[in-house]
Amino acid sequence: MSWSTSPACTELETHVLDWLVEMLGLPARFLSAGAGGGVIQDTASSAALCALLAARERATGGAATRRGNDPRLTAYASEHAHSSVEKAVRIAGLGSDRLRLVPAGAGHALDAARLGALMAADRQAGLVPFLVVATVGTTASLAVDPVPDIADACAEHGAWLHVDAAMAGTATLCPEHRGLHAGIERADSWCFNPHKWMFTNFDCDCFWVADRAALVRALSILPEYLRNAATESGKVIDYRDWQVPLGRRFRALKLWLVIRRFGVEGLRSRVRRHVQVAAALEGWIAEDPRFEIAAPRRLNLACFRLREGGDPANQALIDAVNATGRAFLTHCRLDGRLTVRLCVGQTRTEERHVREAWELLQREASRLAEKG
Ligand SMILES: Cc1ncc(COP(=O)(O)O)c(C=O)c1O
Repeated sequence: MSWSTSPACTELETHVLDWLVEMLGLPARFLSAGAGGGVIQDTASSAALCALLAARERATGGAATRRGNDPRLTAYASEHAHSSVEKAVRIAGLGSDRLRLVPAGAGHALDAARLGALMAADRQAGLVPFLVVATVGTTASLAVDPVPDIADACAEHGAWLHVDAAMAGTATLCPEHRGLHAGIERADSWCFNPHKWMFTNFDCDCFWVADRAALVRALSILPEYLRNAATESGKVIDYRDWQVPLGRRFRALKLWLVIRRFGVEGLRSRVRRHVQVAAALEGWIAEDPRFEIAAPRRLNLACFRLREGGDPANQALIDAVNATGRAFLTHCRLDGRLTVRLCVGQTRTEERHVREAWELLQREASRLAEKG
């Protein structure tokens, strides 16, 4: 889709993404009026791929876009980064081995000192560090990578810094959570998913770049059938050059509707309520001696496990709860141990629903203990 075939769809998207820069307290360099701008992708996975393609374009001065991969290109992310980073590296033809998963330090966040050392050693060995993906709110435990330190390492080695805030980004609607933006003014790109925690139906990922030039150079191809006066004027945005597909959906409309329906204060109050409910859940878990908190609760996510019985007992508990059909729990592995995740994020979720899920967990834990 070009601007000329659907100007309203394009203009509303630009408008809503500029609104969100203000609503989330993002840096002004992400506004469309300057060199940057935002686009709606289907998912955070696509945002990671687009960030990678732009980073590769910039790092190779366009050579990789024209001639294919440079086998020296190397990307970095935390061992707790989402698998979409590795998928992007594979899709782009770099291969999984060109992604270094950096061990996490305290609190399951990327260890920036190890990242810096790894990038320096790779450069010494003739490799080209071109992309670092920092995660603000990891999938497993909502751990926050140290973006300011990561930005230092990126600046030293000339790498693109993409920040994946798929879930946690929504919290920055609330000024009290803007600490999550530390270092963001030095990020080359940033994304979050309104379809995760901003009450918007799947699919909807908002992706901003500080300078759109490399992204557009990486993805723009202009065959005769796409030529038109608006594009040639250089005055319009053709979002087909900011994403993989040519065609695109009018996702901005549903996002506009969500923002208009709830209002900024309505969105904030829902986020705050979810955080409060997750905090209440953390309190209930702490009161039951059979359970332990696996990682300090962050925002709307509680991670916990049964103290006794190790992985088999926790897997049995998850399976038993899920078999009831009343709740569906997911799991992760923290410090090598199976961990239960309970995340509060749906539009209409209230404390009573989470209380019900917790009581179900307690009942199933008792039943499994009786069964031996
Ligand atoms: C931190 C993080 N990044 C990326 C993703 C992938 O999201 P999507 O389904 O939008 O590709 C997830 C999904 O759970 C996630 O938690």
